[in-house]
Amino acid sequence: MSKGKTNVRTFRKRKEAGEKIVMITACDAPSAAAAFAAGIDVLLVGDSLAMTVLGYANTLPLTMEEALHHARAVRRGAPDAFVIFDMPFMSYQVSMEEALRNAGRAVKEAGANAVKLEGGAELVPLITRLVDCGIPVMPHLGLLPQRIQTSGTYRITGRTDAEVEKLLSDAHAVEAAGAFALVLECMPAEVGRRISEALTIPSIGIGSGINCDGQVQVLHDVLGLFEEFTPKHSRRYAELGKLTREALKHYADDVRNGAFPGPENSF
Ligand code: KIV
Repeated sequence: MSKGKTNVRTFRKRKEAGEKIVMITACDAPSAAAAFAAGIDVLLVGDSLAMTVLGYANTLPLTMEEALHHARAVRRGAPDAFVIFDMPFMSYQVSMEEALRNAGRAVKEAGANAVKLEGGAELVPLITRLVDCGIPVMPHLGLLPQRIQTSGTYRITGRTDAEVEKLLSDAHAVEAAGAFALVLECMPAEVGRRISEALTIPSIGIGSGINCDGQVQVLHDVLGLFEEFTPKHSRRYAELGKLTREALKHYADDVRNGAFPGPENSF
């Protein structure tokens, strides 16, 4: 997808060609610009920004207004990127009408190319309607952070035969409803492989093994900016949290000891 501008058809072509799809979260203009410049294929304005940027304990409090505010910044930072808007908790569950209106806002007001929804077969009527309206949909199966209150913990799914069957039937149902790709979060690698091989649309995995058709990670985890914990499925490629603290301490020390501003900073 780095070759030429990405559109919804590119996803399936990449899967057919056996080329991995790289997706990362972005929630502000500079990180969107950096990810696009680095050749990342897809930017997700993930609702994880509720925790990584807004300081909430989980993703549930995030509002449409907050998510749109960040999505607009991402679009400004990366005007040519393929941007997916993660629909906040309760922005698509109340009614079909409200879900369509909110997804429409993501496209019209934030320039999103597609929306992501947590759930499987229960979303089929909504996915069908959104696709009919012209809004591409990426469902999200497996660990569903928006269901934390009913699941009790963030746990791996697909450990029992019944769970694997449910994941497979959900994946087939959303594909048949018109989803262009789907996220598989935190399931055994073997289950990620089985689902990926069973579908014609690409799977984008997070903690679901090497055989998914692409991978997504949370930018703050990858850069070491979210230090409360590092999920097992993530790898830190930089320690920007530590670097940031060191740089800010250096600045504070320089102000206090008279080393900043220097002659070169003065008019
Ligand atoms: O919000 C998010 O960051 C996500 C990814 C984990 C897929 O949904």
